[in-house]
Amino acid sequence: MPNNPTILVVEPGRNPRNSLVAFLEKQTKARIHYAKDPTEALDLIYKDPKIELLLTDLYLPDKSGLEIIRKGVGKNPALVPIVIMPPGNRKYIVESLQAGAYFYIGTPYDYQEILEVIKNGLEYQKLLTETLNWNTSLRKSDGFAGIIGESKVMKSMFKTIEMVTAYGYGNVLLAGESGTGKELVAQAIHDMTPGRNRHNFVPVNCAAIPDDLLESELFGYERGAFTGANRSKKGRLQHAEKGTLFLDEIGDMKPGLQAKMLRVLQEHVFEPIGSVKSIKIDIRVIAATNYDLDKAVKNGTFREDLYYRLSVIPITLPPLRERLDDIPHLIKNFLHIYNRGRQDAIQDFTPQALQRLKQYDWPGNVRELKNLVQRLCILHNGKRVDSRDLPEKFKEKAGPEKNPGAESENKPLETLDFHSMTIDYENRLILQALHSTNWNKKEAARLLNMKRTTLLEKIKKRNLDQA
Ligand SMILES: Nc1ncnc2c1ncn2[C@@H]1O[C@H](COP(=O)(O)OP(=O)(O)OP(=O)(O)O)[C@@H](O)[C@H]1O
Ligand SMILES: [Mg+2]
Repeated sequence: MPNNPTILVVEPGRNPRNSLVAFLEKQTKARIHYAKDPTEALDLIYKDPKIELLLTDLYLPDKSGLEIIRKGVGKNPALVPIVIMPPGNRKYIVESLQAGAYFYIGTPYDYQEILEVIKNGLEYQKLLTETLNWNTSLRKSDGFAGIIGESKVMKSMFKTIEMVTAYGYGNVLLAGESGTGKELVAQAIHDMTPGRNRHNFVPVNCAAIPDDLLESELFGYERGAFTGANRSKKGRLQHAEKGTLFLDEIGDMKPGLQAKMLRVLQEHVFEPIGSVKSIKIDIRVIAATNYDLDKAVKNGTFREDLYYRLSVIPITLPPLRERLDDIPHLIKNFLHIYNRGRQDAIQDFTPQALQRLKQYDWPGNVRELKNLVQRLCILHNGKRVDSRDLPEKFKEKAGPEKNPGAESENKPLETLDFHSMTIDYENRLILQALHSTNWNKKEAARLLNMKRTTLLEKIKKRNLDQA
């Protein structure tokens, strides 16, 4: 249990109140405040911002416990309310959860049960405070030239980028797994380099262009240089003159072309295919690779001399799993992008949802997180994203939640039919996906990250086609 927590107990009856307070003081080492009615309770919450947990009866004189929860959470968003009420009244249970209650305990209760729930509630409170602090610090951060990151590794990378941009020469080699932001960094370096940023940023993906075309794309050609060359064409090198040439996936460049590129980097000249006239060129080359070029050099598939020419300034982008604390910052940024124009926009993620995301491996790195946020912005109904709103893979990886929320598997609410609510929720997601893709089932399956056949089966079984 966290050190010296402060708990507020609201109970109208003097005897049950006194014995509950005495029990909690002994078992939790907490500072306990107590109140007999909502007015007293709210007074205390307004006076003492350190109250972390509220244990209240639902049925109270004057007003209901719901009002304490609502106003209390309004005053102190990190407050964790637990509500006590007779079991079986589904309407009140739902209402108190909606008002912000973390858990409900049915009467008659036993003290051990209360102690267990309080322990979990205090753990949850720690997570909640952490999230709220994140959210506050988020407001201060808008990244570095559109690259989001507050972690140490990212900050040190920003310093290197600043150095690179202060000086317009020197080729840069960006290494990092897929989706870590290599292209984003390349563009930022170009945009921030005085002089070069007034000219073109020209990306060339060495893996996406067939080998025989890549050479003519880069160097251009003279009319008649080969069959079909009816007129001359400028290459991308020339388009990048005075600017930046971004050679993406450089590891896929074939040896013949590597030799030609080396000459460009060493002598700053080249000849278009079919031409004898050399053209002088002033470009900065930024190359990117998502596999180990060092190894490729040792294997003999990548020229060592070209490798050294390219990696005057090497920058390695860290995978997302090594900077998990950046996740909330990235989410905030992506929500800003994808929420635009939405009335019922997502505001934030619950602590449990963030915890799940921090337990995941992120093989697709920032791109995977960006896609997730985009998907949620399209499909999610509501202002908060909870762990149960996340795709299956986050649940599988993370195992059961450490700090169960109100709908804990450990403590099922007999009055809420979990199965039918889950189906209901699933149907809503499916309908939203179908709606936002104009009933294109293949596209909807992609959005939902679901096999097309599974989607078709669910639509048929549940008659969603007629919805
Ligand atoms: N630090 C970051 N801040 C904000 N957005 C980011 C960040 N890193 C990556 N992204 C976003 O994630 C997506 C993938 O980034 P990018 O295309 O730059 O990755 P990459 O390393 O080039 O991946 P690949 O090797 O697969 O080409 C882009 O939409 C990019 O805007
Ligand atoms: Mg890329």
